[in-house]
Amino acid sequence: MRAAHPIAYPMLARITRPALRVPGIGTVVTDAALLRAVLMDTVSYTKTGPGAPSELWTPVLGPRVLLNMEGADHLELRRRLAPLFTPAAVGSLVDRTLGGPFESLRARLAAGERVELVAEARRCASAVISTLVGLPPEVVDDRLFRRIATVTGAVRLSRPRMTPAQVRHAREVMAELTGHAAEAWRRGDPDTVPGRMRELGLDEEESLGAVGAFVLTGTETLVAYLPRLICLLADTGWLGRLATEREHVDPAIAEGLRVTTPSPVMLRSVVRESCIGDVVVRPGERVVLATFLADRIAPGFDPVGNPAASLRQLWFGAGSHFCLGAPLAMAQIRGMLSAVLDAAVEQPLEVHSRRVARGVLIPGYRSVVLGRGVGGRA
Ligand code: HEM
Repeated sequence: MRAAHPIAYPMLARITRPALRVPGIGTVVTDAALLRAVLMDTVSYTKTGPGAPSELWTPVLGPRVLLNMEGADHLELRRRLAPLFTPAAVGSLVDRTLGGPFESLRARLAAGERVELVAEARRCASAVISTLVGLPPEVVDDRLFRRIATVTGAVRLSRPRMTPAQVRHAREVMAELTGHAAEAWRRGDPDTVPGRMRELGLDEEESLGAVGAFVLTGTETLVAYLPRLICLLADTGWLGRLATEREHVDPAIAEGLRVTTPSPVMLRSVVRESCIGDVVVRPGERVVLATFLADRIAPGFDPVGNPAASLRQLWFGAGSHFCLGAPLAMAQIRGMLSAVLDAAVEQPLEVHSRRVARGVLIPGYRSVVLGRGVGGRA
C-alpha cells in the first residue's frame, strides 16, 4: 500500500475516527457498518456526481459502463450481463480458458521450477477477460497491461478528474481495443459482454466503453491479489499447512481479501444532505470509502477464526454496485491457488524473491518468484 500510495496511504491510515472530513479529499469513512450503510443508500449517494467515479471514467469510457451508472438503466444492464457471471458460466469459462495453464503451473512447480507469479496471474486474467469480452487473447498482452497501468497509475485521491492530456492518453490506450471489440459487437455472440449489450439495444460505441471497463476492472485487481495471497500464505506459514488442510481454503481466500483489500477505496458523491456517523455531508461533496481500513476488524491473517466472515465480502462492495465479476474472480483465485497447493503437496514451496510495484493504482507486487522450498526434492 505504501509503495503504491506513499502520500495517501499513511494519511488515511492515521484516521482513527469512523468518519472524518479531510480537506481536499472528502469525508473519509473507515468503519465497516457506516461504509456499508453508504453503499446501500442510493438515495443519498451516487457514483455519478462530483468527485465520484463517473468524473474519472466517463470521459474515457463513455456514460454506460456500469461503474458510472445509477438507477433503472444500471439495473437493466446488470440484469442482462448477469447470465455471464452465474457459477455455472464462470466455472465453464475458467475451465475452458485456464484448465491447461493451471495444470502447467502445478506441473512446473512440482518439478521444482521457479515461477514468476505476477506474469502468471496476468496471463490468466488476460485469457479470461479476453474471452469474456470477445477479444482475441493476444490483444490483452503484457504491453497492453503496461499501457493500462499508465492510465490507472495516474489516478490519485487528490485528483477527482483526469487532466485533458490524461484523458487523451487513456482514450488512445482504450482505442487499441476498439477494432476487436467492435467485431465482437457485430458478431453478437451472447456469451460475450458486447453481444449481451447489443441484445439490450446498446450501440457499438457504448459496448466498446464496456469492454474497456471490464478490462480495467477485471484484470488489475486480480493480478495484484493472486501473488499477494501466495506471499501472505508463505509469510504466515500457511502455504504448507493449507496444502494438506483444504477445509481452510475458502476462509484463507476470504481472509486474504480482507487483509489485502485489492480495491482499497470506493468513491461516492452526496446527492442529499445526510449524516455519516457524526459528520454532516451535503450535496456535491465527495465520500471516500476506505474499505482497506474498514476491513481491519482484526489484526493479522486468521483462516481458522475467519473474522472476514462477518464482513460479508465488503472487499467486493455492497448493494447495487457489488462487484459483478466477484464469482469470476473467486473461480480464478480458487483455480490458481489449487494449482499451487497441489504442487506444494509434492514439493515444499517458498517465495524466493519479491519486488513491490510503485506508482500503481492497485497495490501489489511487480514480481514474486515462487519455487522449491527448503527440504524439497532436487
Ligand atoms: C479480487 C478481485 C476483485 C475485487 C477486489 C473487486 C472489487 C470490486 C469492488 C469493490 C467493486 C464495487 C465498487 C463500488 O461500489 O464503487 C467492484 C465493481 C465491479 N467489478 Fe470487481 N473486483 C474484482 C474483480 C473483478 C473481475 C474479475 C471483474 C470482471 C470480470 C470485475 C468487474 C466489476 C464490475 C463490472 C464492477 C462494476 C459493477 C457495477 O458498478 O454495477 N471485478 N469490484
